[in-house]
Amino acid sequence: MLIINISELAGIDESGKLLKSGAEMAETGRVQNAFVLLKGKKIADYGRMDSESGKKYLSENHRVVDAKGGMVLPCFCDSHTHIVYANSRELEFVDKIRGLSYEDIAKRGGGILNSAKATAEASEDALYDMALQRLEEVMRMGTGAIEIKSGYGLTTESELKLLRVIRRLKENSPMLIKANFLGAHGIPMEYRGHQSDYVDLVINEMIPLVASEDLADFIDVFCDDGFFTVEDTERILMAGLKYGMRPKIHANEMAVSGGVQVGVKYGAISVDHLEQMGQAEIECLKGTETMPTILPGCAFFLNLPLSPAREMIRNGLPVAMASDFNPGTSPSGNMQLILSMACIRYRLTPEEALNATTLNTAYAMDVSEQVGSITKGKLANLIITQPMARLEFMPYYYGANKVSKVILNGKLV
Ligand code: NIG
Ligand code: FE
Repeated sequence: MLIINISELAGIDESGKLLKSGAEMAETGRVQNAFVLLKGKKIADYGRMDSESGKKYLSENHRVVDAKGGMVLPCFCDSHTHIVYANSRELEFVDKIRGLSYEDIAKRGGGILNSAKATAEASEDALYDMALQRLEEVMRMGTGAIEIKSGYGLTTESELKLLRVIRRLKENSPMLIKANFLGAHGIPMEYRGHQSDYVDLVINEMIPLVASEDLADFIDVFCDDGFFTVEDTERILMAGLKYGMRPKIHANEMAVSGGVQVGVKYGAISVDHLEQMGQAEIECLKGTETMPTILPGCAFFLNLPLSPAREMIRNGLPVAMASDFNPGTSPSGNMQLILSMACIRYRLTPEEALNATTLNTAYAMDVSEQVGSITKGKLANLIITQPMARLEFMPYYYGANKVSKVILNGKLV
């Protein structure tokens, strides 16, 4: 396949870097009036239409796709989602408008437990159909790789059911999907006051069964005030590591929880949320392999403080930004909106925002060798946008779906 008449190709990288940190976050290759040549599932070549190679390919017999003055970008990688759930929570949304906090709702048994109740009652088939619909929705908006968590089960049986749904999505969708086991997402009512017994259940029963069916690539814990403690988190991460599940955790959403430190200590591939960050958290991330991941949709939806993205970049850290698509704190998986929020609310430049939502999120789900940039030999997971002159228009024209076509594994979807 030969894609022609591309106004601008951006997100090019031939450095072989698996992530971009600090000042490198502003680096992205851009070519105007471009073509991209695909071979099978992969990117074979790209360049200017009026170059020697451009002219040569045009004279050959390729299947031509005309971008008609749109841009071509690498697909978004969404490294943090919870799309397997049964019910929406718009009535709690109204409670929050009227003044209740996220923690108030959780204390009275709403929030995650509300979702867990409905999700426990739903069949595996019904959950699969609902999740597939959400997956297709975000694919049309340009997401090509996605991490999906369990966590609305909170019993052994239900957690396994959710992870089996994710396995079926992996088998049937053209998207690149990673599964994350989040048994420690909420504390079921019957364990309130003795939550270490629930942690025991996660460690002694859930983790071995999840591992025996090879259902999870990662392990997650909601390490925060009112949820799991640093000690609980440590026990769970150690147990998961024994089965080869790398941590990727929820940290510092409600409070400076120690979540960043415990994640780094156990070699987490990412620590996510980070609305509550001090200098100690920034220092602790320096020189590590842990990707700090900000979830702009959650901070927007809950009116939380903004994570200090610029400060992190100034300190030489990488920053990734994902959607957190879930029914309680971010009921949207629109990564174009995340790109806009990265610029508007967190003051990233369009180039930095692009790296934050593609290469760095790919790293945070361990797929940046395959996707996350326009690189020869990487998978052809590409967005063709509606006609626009340049990259800067993407975050600027916020709210609309500017994706015209999506190519996954070299095929139009
Ligand atoms: O990432 N913070 C914890 N988990 C989800 C929210 C889950 C929910 O409220 O249903 C999050 O924001
Ligand atoms: Fe989350």
